[in-house]
Amino acid sequence: TKRVAILISGGGSNMVALADSMTGDHPARPCLVLANTAGAGGLARAAERGIPTAVVDHRPFGKDRPAFEAELTRVLEEARPDILCLAGFMRVLTEGFVTRWQGRMLNIHPSLLPKYRGLHTHARAIEAGDAEHGCTVHEVTPELDGGPILGQASLPILAEDTPESLAARVLPLEHRLYPEALRRFAGGDRRRFTLA
Ligand code: GAR
Repeated sequence: TKRVAILISGGGSNMVALADSMTGDHPARPCLVLANTAGAGGLARAAERGIPTAVVDHRPFGKDRPAFEAELTRVLEEARPDILCLAGFMRVLTEGFVTRWQGRMLNIHPSLLPKYRGLHTHARAIEAGDAEHGCTVHEVTPELDGGPILGQASLPILAEDTPESLAARVLPLEHRLYPEALRRFAGGDRRRFTLA
């Protein structure tokens, strides 16, 4: 059984979808939910599920990302994860950290990559006049939101969509996509797929 650590910064709805999917014949189980702020709402939702939680606050480290990541690594290693899932983890990770976990770290991003790396993806898709939008699960490499794509799911953008209404439709799609991508990845299948 693969051990999965999930990294969050916020409400953790993708973390919940991942955690709740790892039952029965699933090849993985959650071993840790780690947040970079004690205020992350997802921590309570992980604890309710009996998943160990940890906080590594980035703020005391200031601009010293390597020092923050050294502490992140120390706490993660104690949980002995085979796979890291970034689930709304809003810290940019350095090449040193990413290289250490490369091939074992996934991220979900709210756009159809390679379109709209970075932030404000929903607003950018609407402004561009795109017909479709969606979400992507990819392997994490040092290039921000640039690693190999594992899975995608898409939906139409409606004429009346705002960034908020679009985000509200993409999020449930994320909750279907990420568990499917993790199940395949943990089972050794890295072929790219599209959610039906
Ligand atoms: C999700 O929409 C996720 O795709 C996005 O943050 C949200 C987290 O929600 N991630 C990024 O924008 C990564 N740059 P959640 O905490 O409820 O899962």
